[in-house]
Amino acid sequence: MKIALLPGDGIGPEVVAAARRVLDALALPGLVLFEGDVGMAAYRRHGHPLPAETLEMARAADAVLFGAVGDPEGDNLPREHRPEAAILGLRAELGLFANLRPAAGWPGLEHLSPLRPELARGIDLLVVRELNGDVYFGAKGERTNAAGEREGWDSMSYCESEVRRIAHTAFAAAGKRRGRVTSVDKANVLETSRIWRETVVEVARDYPDIRLDHLYVDNAAMQMVRAPGQFDVILTGNLFGDILSDQASAVVGSIGLLPSASLGERTTGHGTFGLYEPIHGSAPDIAGHGKANPLAAILSLAMLLRHSLGREADAGRIERAVAKTLGDGVLGADLGGTASTEQIAAAVVSNLLSIS
Ligand code: NAI
Ligand code: MG
Repeated sequence: MKIALLPGDGIGPEVVAAARRVLDALALPGLVLFEGDVGMAAYRRHGHPLPAETLEMARAADAVLFGAVGDPEGDNLPREHRPEAAILGLRAELGLFANLRPAAGWPGLEHLSPLRPELARGIDLLVVRELNGDVYFGAKGERTNAAGEREGWDSMSYCESEVRRIAHTAFAAAGKRRGRVTSVDKANVLETSRIWRETVVEVARDYPDIRLDHLYVDNAAMQMVRAPGQFDVILTGNLFGDILSDQASAVVGSIGLLPSASLGERTTGHGTFGLYEPIHGSAPDIAGHGKANPLAAILSLAMLLRHSLGREADAGRIERAVAKTLGDGVLGADLGGTASTEQIAAAVVSNLLSIS
C-alpha cells in the first residue's frame, strides 16, 4: 500500500502532519509513505506548482493525501504558475471525476450549525459532484459584441458517458447508505441538464432498490437550509456541485471538520485510486500558529483508508475517535475552543488506541 502525502502551503503541512500521526498510530503493515512538493512550496523550489516528479509520485501511489495550496505571494503569478493550478492539474491529470463530500451533524454539536438544532440534528448527506466537465472545462473567451462592448462567454456541456459514470458513483454510494439519490439540475432551462436528467433516469434502471428524485438547483439550495435532513445522496454537476457542497458543509458547522474524496476510474487492488483533502484552503491567516483544526484532514485520511485501501474497520475507528474527541470538548479555535492542532491530534490518537 502506497500513500503519497502532498502537504502544500499554509496550514496544509500542519494538518497533514497531524493526519500522519493518526496513520502512524494505526501501524498498518506494508504501508509505504512518500512525500512530495506541491503549490507555492513547489513553485519556490522547482519553478512549478505541480512538478513532474510530484505528479509521478501521485500516479505511482494507491492514494494521495493532500493538504491545501494557496499563498498570498502566489496571487501575483500568472495563472498556470499559481499554487491553485496544482490541485486543478492533479484532478485533470489523474482523471478524478467524482468528488465526494459527506456532511453530517455531530451528535451533541448541533450548536455549531447556523441552523436551528432540530434541523441540524437530522443532517447526514453526501454530495457527489462531477469534477471533470461542465462550464469549468468548456471553451471560453472574451469578444466584442455588436454594441462594441467587451463580452465574456463560457460554454457548458455534458455528454452521456460523463453523466453515466458519475451517476453510477452516486447510486453505488446510496446503496451503502439510505438508498436515496436526489439528482440536481436545471432541466427546465438548460439542454445540458436535459441530457443529464435523461441519462440519470437510464442509469437508475440498474439500481431498482434506490429511490431517485430530481430537484432544480434553486429549489435544492432552498431545501438544503429548510429541511436538510431529507437528503441522502445529492448527485450533481461541477458548477452546481461546487456551490451546493460548500452550502452543505456550512449547514453542519465548521470548515475545519469536513473531508473530501476525489475518485477516478482506476482501481488499486485494495479499492479505487483517489485524492483526499480537507475542503478548507491554506488559511494563511492562521498558518504557523498551531491553530488549525486537523480533523478535516484526519477524516480525509479515514476516507482514504475506506475507498482506496479497503480498510473500512480502520476508517470507522478513526471516525469514532474523532467523534469522541469532539464529544470530550477538545475543540479548536474554529469551534470556539482553545485546543491546538497538536492537542487535537494527540487526543484523536489516544482515543484511537483505546477503541478496538
Ligand atoms: P480557507 O479555507 O483557507 O480559510 C477560510 C477561513 O477559515 C479562514 O479564516 C481560515 O483561518 C479558516 N480555516 C480554514 N481551515 C481551517 C482549519 N482547518 N482550522 C481552523 N480554521 C480554518 O479559504 P480562503 O481564505 O478563501 O483561501 C486561502 C487560500 O487557500 C487561497 O489561496 C485559496 O485559493 C486557497 N484554497 C485552496 C484550496 C485547496 O487547496 N483545495 C481550497 C480553498 C482555498
Ligand atoms: Mg468551492
